[in-house]
Amino acid sequence: MHTIHTLSELRAALAGAPNTAFVPTMGNLHEGHLSLIRQARAAGGAPVVASIFVNRLQFAPHEDFDTYPRTLERDAQLLQEAGCDLLFAPSERELYPEPQGYKVQPPSELADILEGHFRPGFFTGVCTVVLKLFNIVQPQLAVFGKKDYQQLMVIRRMVEQLALPIAIHGGETTRADDGLALSSRNGYLSAAERAEAVTLSRTLRGVADAVAGGRRDFAAIEAEAMQALSARGWAPDYVAIRRRKDLALPSSEDESGDASLVVLSAARLGTTRLIDNLELTP
Ligand code: PAF
Repeated sequence: MHTIHTLSELRAALAGAPNTAFVPTMGNLHEGHLSLIRQARAAGGAPVVASIFVNRLQFAPHEDFDTYPRTLERDAQLLQEAGCDLLFAPSERELYPEPQGYKVQPPSELADILEGHFRPGFFTGVCTVVLKLFNIVQPQLAVFGKKDYQQLMVIRRMVEQLALPIAIHGGETTRADDGLALSSRNGYLSAAERAEAVTLSRTLRGVADAVAGGRRDFAAIEAEAMQALSARGWAPDYVAIRRRKDLALPSSEDESGDASLVVLSAARLGTTRLIDNLELTP
């Protein structure tokens, strides 16, 4: 696997490649990312390209941009083992040689809810860097994890509305044995917090069971789940049952068919903010 740091070298390396599959990341890779690389390969990507770039634009001033783990050497090793062909790891000066004044503003109804409500500007930062990376890599396929469910939706919509010739594939969430969704931020958890962290996925499972069992009082189910998290010392931002296709509140039609719904959550445990989601299956 080659590691490339500049736009010009990357463009030269990928010129004319008809089947590029792309997995953008912020590094500090774990099995979840590696499974996206394998899915890119299985989908016929040749070459499979990963990027590692901690994107300042998607962090609020009080968030963890400065402390976000940067583990390039180890990441490169893992990518190579997972079958990645090419790693693009630009410096900040290379990707943002001047302050990024042109930005992609995603539609409010999709990007200012849930994560966007609690992290204003987050999806503008994500869309801006992803569009820029798409323009540099020019992939035919890009793979994003369902762990960041809203991000996947926002990017799908961007690709549709801006008519980008890129297929977007959603990769299933990889979980630890106890059910905790893998995340680079799990590394911030103390041992005691790590043991407690499984409560988030269990809570979502409880919501899924309640809906599968026939309950349709979604607001009450959400409130109960938030209370259960709070009672165990979490500070939940939201537990929300939404339509999968646009993350809008379910209508009465959606409520009759669980297949169209997803439950999403974000909650803080100590100083670590975790997110997770579960597609509801009938
Ligand atoms: O999901 C991530 O790691 C980031 O949001 C992404 C898509 C790489 C953009 O910086």
